[in-house]
Amino acid sequence: MSETLQDIAAAMMADGQGILAADESTGTIQKRFDQIGVENTEANRQAYRELLFTADEAMKNYVSGVILFDETLRQSTLDGRRFAEVIKAAGAVPGIKVDAGAKPLALFPGEKVTEGLDGLRGRLQEYYKLGARFAKWRAVIDILPAEGLPTTGAIACNAHALARYAALCQENGIVPIVEPEVIMDGPNSHHDVDTCYKVTELTLNIVFDELYAQRVDLTGMILKPNMIVPGQNGPQVSTREVAERTVECLKATVPAAVPGIAFLSGGQSDEAATEHLAIMNQIGGFPWKMTFSYGRALQQACLKAWSGKKENVPAAQAAFKHRAKMNGLAALGRWRAEDEREAA
Ligand code: 13P
Repeated sequence: MSETLQDIAAAMMADGQGILAADESTGTIQKRFDQIGVENTEANRQAYRELLFTADEAMKNYVSGVILFDETLRQSTLDGRRFAEVIKAAGAVPGIKVDAGAKPLALFPGEKVTEGLDGLRGRLQEYYKLGARFAKWRAVIDILPAEGLPTTGAIACNAHALARYAALCQENGIVPIVEPEVIMDGPNSHHDVDTCYKVTELTLNIVFDELYAQRVDLTGMILKPNMIVPGQNGPQVSTREVAERTVECLKATVPAAVPGIAFLSGGQSDEAATEHLAIMNQIGGFPWKMTFSYGRALQQACLKAWSGKKENVPAAQAAFKHRAKMNGLAALGRWRAEDEREAA
């Protein structure tokens, strides 16, 4: 019997678990490897991903799904087990990043649109055969208040593409992760938490309009939003305020039919990303499950502990397990700062 979109989404939102975003493209993993002095070869990428997916304690207890890059979905462990099978055996759902990246949007200086719709139906059908049961598409919305950005025109283009992607996924039995990321990086000191709130609210409203217009079944998708945070150079606020504003913004924009929200970390520190998620789940009172779909905030410590050396694999797996456990607790609203110390 085939799984329904709702079955897959429910597995991805299992209690106390979340999604490992390990879908760095070859270009993005280069940046991560540069930080630890590791050469970006296929062998090193394979070794690093094998380390993650065979970290049994982390995977079995705290990871409900893994987002892969095309190359990684086709790779295997050194002893010949396909990564998709290893992930499934650990009880997690294999997923695949299907967008082709954010490119300059014609006639919208400084803004981007995510490409990758051409031929997407065929690629989804192949990915399904390779074991993927969910997909990810990331739209990028930059905030530059002094320049009047973002424009609604650019947000609408991205929302349209997200909805076309989501519809194609559902047609092919794949749960779409819909990711409109309002970016927190940027030089602007006027980029405060209110600006992030307004831009995220507008973006999510436009995205859900498009999803409706394109007949996407909201019960068979996962939303991957940013949290409501000030820009890196804007006035900072407390972790409590981030959590409260994020819950407020999502309650105002995300229909209750959506089964789950899995946040990106977006450049937050490991502990801030965990604490924000924990506070939101303590606040509660919303109709969806809320968990993590972190890339950097799950992997930074692990990458550093590994540093490309075979003898460091156990320490790297322990670092991954620690962050996965902290975020698993946060998804239940049970994380406390003391947990970081005790386990360290
Ligand atoms: P970060 O958690 O590092 O933002 O990555 C998550 C992700 O998948 C971005 O598309």
